[in-house]
Amino acid sequence: YNYRVSRDRRAILEYLFTGLRRLEYRGYDSAGISFDCDPVVLEKASASIVSTPVVIKSSGKVDALVKLAYEEAVKQGIDLDEVLDNHAGIAHTRWATHGVPSATNSHPQVSDAEHKFVVVHNGIITNYKALKDFLIKRGEVFISETDTEVIPKLCNYVYKSTQEKLSFNELILEVISKLEGAYGLLFKSAYFPGELVACKRGSPLLLGIKEAEALRPLQSSPMRRPNPGDSFEAFIASDASAFVEHTKQMIVLEDNDLLHLARGTYAIYNVSKDESGAAYGSVSRALSTLDMEVNSIMKGGYDHYMQKEINEQPDSVLQTMRGRVKFDRQPKKRITLGGLVDRISTIRSGRRVMFVACGTSYHACLACRQTMEELAELPVSLELASDLLDRRAPIFRDDMCVFVSQSGETADTLKALEYAKERGALCIGVTNTVGSAIARSTHCGVHINAGCEIGVASTKAYTSQMVALTMMALALSEDSIRLRPKRNSIIDALGVLPDQIREVLKLDAEMLSLAEQLKEEQSLLVFGRGYNYATALEAALKVKEVALMHSEGILAGEMKHGPLALVDELLPIIVIATRDRMYQKMLSVVQQLLARGARLIILCNSGDSDMQEICASGGSRLIQVPETVESLQPIINIVPLQLLSYHLTVLRGFNVDQPRNLAKSVTVS
Ligand code: G6P
Repeated sequence: YNYRVSRDRRAILEYLFTGLRRLEYRGYDSAGISFDCDPVVLEKASASIVSTPVVIKSSGKVDALVKLAYEEAVKQGIDLDEVLDNHAGIAHTRWATHGVPSATNSHPQVSDAEHKFVVVHNGIITNYKALKDFLIKRGEVFISETDTEVIPKLCNYVYKSTQEKLSFNELILEVISKLEGAYGLLFKSAYFPGELVACKRGSPLLLGIKEAEALRPLQSSPMRRPNPGDSFEAFIASDASAFVEHTKQMIVLEDNDLLHLARGTYAIYNVSKDESGAAYGSVSRALSTLDMEVNSIMKGGYDHYMQKEINEQPDSVLQTMRGRVKFDRQPKKRITLGGLVDRISTIRSGRRVMFVACGTSYHACLACRQTMEELAELPVSLELASDLLDRRAPIFRDDMCVFVSQSGETADTLKALEYAKERGALCIGVTNTVGSAIARSTHCGVHINAGCEIGVASTKAYTSQMVALTMMALALSEDSIRLRPKRNSIIDALGVLPDQIREVLKLDAEMLSLAEQLKEEQSLLVFGRGYNYATALEAALKVKEVALMHSEGILAGEMKHGPLALVDELLPIIVIATRDRMYQKMLSVVQQLLARGARLIILCNSGDSDMQEICASGGSRLIQVPETVESLQPIINIVPLQLLSYHLTVLRGFNVDQPRNLAKSVTVS
C-alpha cells in the first residue's frame, strides 16, 4: 500500500513479486496478484465502480506468475511505466487445502467478473458450505473449488443488502462476523479504490510501516500514526520476510483485529465478544522493531536454503546459547533463561513436564526427553499435537506443558496450547519466531534465536531446539548438588559444540559420495536407541521429506519385533552407534544385522576400533563423528545425516527447499 509515494507500475508489481518470492517457502503450488488498472481516484466519488482491479493468477511457482503478469499487462494495454502516486495491491502464494492447485483455485478470489471485491486468504473457512448454499440461493455463481470464494461473494451480498451505506471496514466487519474457522485476509475493492482492509483470526498477519524517505530523510525511526496528507507506505504479510527489505517497523496484529488503510493513514479495530454481543472498537497496537537482516533470508552463496542452514549450525547453536550459558565453572548460576527465571520453581514443583510438538520439533523433544527426566527429575511425557487433540488427553493444572515450534504458528500445536491453557496448565513456548502466535499465547518461554529458517525441511532449528531444551533442563536442576558434576560436563560440552559441528560439517564430501551410492535405492532404514532414537526418526524424516525416498526410523530395541524381517543383502541400513550407555546394545544390533547379510552404514565416534574392525571385514561403511556427552551427541549425529539427505535430494533431482506437497508452516489443521 502506498500513498503519495510515486512509483511506476512496474516497481509496484516488483514489490509484490519480491514479497511473494520471500514467502514462496510457505506455499508454492500457485500464486496470484491484484493491482489497480486505472490510477486510483482517492476520494470515493460515488457508489459506482471507480477502478476495476486487474487479477492475474497462475498455477505453479511465483516465477510463472511473474511471466504471465507481464504478458497480460502487454495484452491488456496496461502501461507499466505509468507513475502512480497511490496504490493498493495484494498478492498471494498458495498451499492448497480445498481444491487442486490451479489458476482458478488460486487467490485472489473475486466476487464477480468486475472484481468488485478481491480477497486473498490464509487459513480455512469451516462453515463455507453453509455460506456457499446461502449465496447460491441468492444468485451467486461459484467457479472455484475453494472455501475462500465465499468471502468475496459474501462481501458483494453484504454490500448490496446494506444498500451501499457502509464504509469498507464496516462492510468487512459484517462479513467476518459470518465466518467460522481460521483466517488471515486481505481485501481490495473496486468500490473503495486505494483502500485495503486486513483482518485475522488464527493465522498470522503483520503490518510493516514505512514513511516515504523522500519527505522524511532525516528522521531515524520515530514511529507514529501518519496524519492525513503525509506520504506513507505499508506492507501487510503473514511473515516479516516479505517486507524486511523495506522496513523494520512493524505491528503484530492480534486475533480479531481489523486493519483499515485509507488515505495515507491506518486504523486498527478489534472485535471482542462478551455476553452483550460483539463490541467493535479502535485499538492501538505496539510498534516493534523487526530483528531480522535481509541477508538472513538470502541464499548467500549456497545453492539452496537447506544447504545454507545446515552449514549455519555452528553459529545458530551459539546464538541459542548467547548470553544464557556461562562457560566459566566458578559462578553458581551457569544458565540464565530470561523468559523462564520467574517460573523455575513452579515448573520444578509440577506434576510432570509434557512436551507438545509436530514434525521435526517433536523429534527435538524426543531427543531431549531423557535429559529432562534425568536433570529435572520429573516424569516427562511426549505428545504429537494432533494426537493429543484427537484423544483430548487429560491435562491438569499442575502440568507443565512445553510447546515446541520453529514457526510458532503450527495450527495443531497452537490448538493444543489453547486446550492445555483451558485446563489451567502452565504453558511454556519454545519457538524461533518472536511475536508468533505460540510465543504470545504461552505464559513464558524461550526463543531459540536460530535465525530465519526458510528451507521447508527443518535443520538448524532442530539443533537449536535441542540446545534450548537442554538449557531448560539444566536451569531446572541448578540447585541440585548431586547433579552438579553431570550438569558441569554438559555445560562444558555445550561450550565446544559449535566447533564440533564445524568439524562434522567437513564430512560433506563423504556424505555426497554416500548419497551417490544410495541415490537409486527405494528404501532406507535408520536404527537408533536411547538418546539417538530421535536421531533415527529425524534422519528418516529428512530423507523422506526432501529426497522423496521411503525411509523409516526404527527403535533398535524393537528390531526383533518386526523390522528384522525386512533385512537382507539389498536394503541399506544406517545404524547410529555412538558411544553412550546404549553402545554395547548397538554393537549387538550391528552383529545381528550383519549375521543376516545386511548392508550397513554405521555412524560412530571417531576412532571407534570395534566399528573400524567391522568395517575392515567388508561390506559396511562408517560415518565417524566427534564425541561429546551422550545427551548432546544427537546434535552432532544429525548433521551428517542432514547432509546426506540434502545430497540425495540434489542427486535425485528433487526440489530441496520446497519438497512436493509440503509447507514450512502448517497453519491449517
Ligand atoms: C512442517 C515442516 C516441518 C516442521 C513441522 C512443525 O511439517 O515442514 O519442518 O518440523 O511443520 O513445524 P513447527 O514450525 O511447529 O516447528
